[in-house]
Amino acid sequence: MKFSLFNLYLVYILVSSVKSKVPKPKPARLGFFRETLRPEVRVIGGLKAERHQFPYQVSLQYNGVHICGGVLISETRVITAAHCKVRINALYEVVLGMLILYEDHEDIQRRMVENFTIHPEFPLFSRYIATDDIAVLDLSEPVKLTPAVQVIKLPTQKQCNAMGSMVISGWGYSNPEANQHSSTLRWAALPRITYKQCRQDLLAVARTSKPLDKTMICTSSVVGKNQSACSGDSGGPLVYDGAVVGIVSWGVIPCGTRHAPTVYIKPCSHESFLRSDSCSCLILNHGKSRLILSYLLYIFYINDLCS
Ligand SMILES: *[C@@H]1O[C@H](CO)[C@@H](O)[C@H](O)[C@H]1NC(C)=O
Ligand SMILES: *[C@@H]1O[C@H](CO)[C@@H](O)[C@H](O)[C@H]1NC(C)=O
Repeated sequence: MKFSLFNLYLVYILVSSVKSKVPKPKPARLGFFRETLRPEVRVIGGLKAERHQFPYQVSLQYNGVHICGGVLISETRVITAAHCKVRINALYEVVLGMLILYEDHEDIQRRMVENFTIHPEFPLFSRYIATDDIAVLDLSEPVKLTPAVQVIKLPTQKQCNAMGSMVISGWGYSNPEANQHSSTLRWAALPRITYKQCRQDLLAVARTSKPLDKTMICTSSVVGKNQSACSGDSGGPLVYDGAVVGIVSWGVIPCGTRHAPTVYIKPCSHESFLRSDSCSCLILNHGKSRLILSYLLYIFYINDLCS
């Protein structure tokens, strides 16, 4: 069995083999939480969501298969993780208003991804987890805002720095005890931990904390539980006080390892990128000073982004 750092489909094999054989303990390692084109999905240690509970949550699909989560931040824009770009020049689709993965429901809206713009510093197709794991998706047509499909705000600096209980959601792989065939969106309220604590925990569990840095934030489990994001949750939201304060990026594999933190990219550290015109329309929702700033960033980013 090949055991490379980003071969996430192994997660499924590892987790599902736990029950049948007595597992020879594998060392925990760090990896992305992208779904590697497998439909087995769901948040470790979470709860099933209700319809319309997470109207900003989207499913990013490639060839009709869920690969990652994403977050609707405007009628034409979704943010996700850069490592969710699994093929260049491929057709990606965003599915909105969905509760059960692949269900057919009147709430559902589908939009093609017109531009999948990854952060210019992110090493595309990297075998290893990396910083700047963030991307914006420009949708082919605006979505229709309904009770099932709503945008969520980008955070203020204060919300970015807040500690407390935060909500993660996703269709990522859940656990071997759960019903394998139920693929309802799941969520968990997880405590944010400090950078220092996160570093310590990663070192303790996986003997490395690289590439953790201050553009990321971490959550741990509620005491006594083993909760984390898992394969297929990548790109999805961590929400606090009505704003998206994190984008699921990476963590410890196997997911649900005791004391393993989940690591998120901080939208606050990439605000310029998220608001930058990924080649055409400026997002003008923060008044004049933002307009000028966006414009400057537009000039700085446009070459990188459009190439
Ligand atoms: C995608 O990028 C192109 C430029 O590369 C731009 O003309 C187009 O408007 C963008 N599409 C959307 C939906 O923003
Ligand atoms: C958490 O994981 C540990 C092993 O890593 C296990 O012993 C414990 O039972 C798990 N706890 C829960 C609540 O699943």
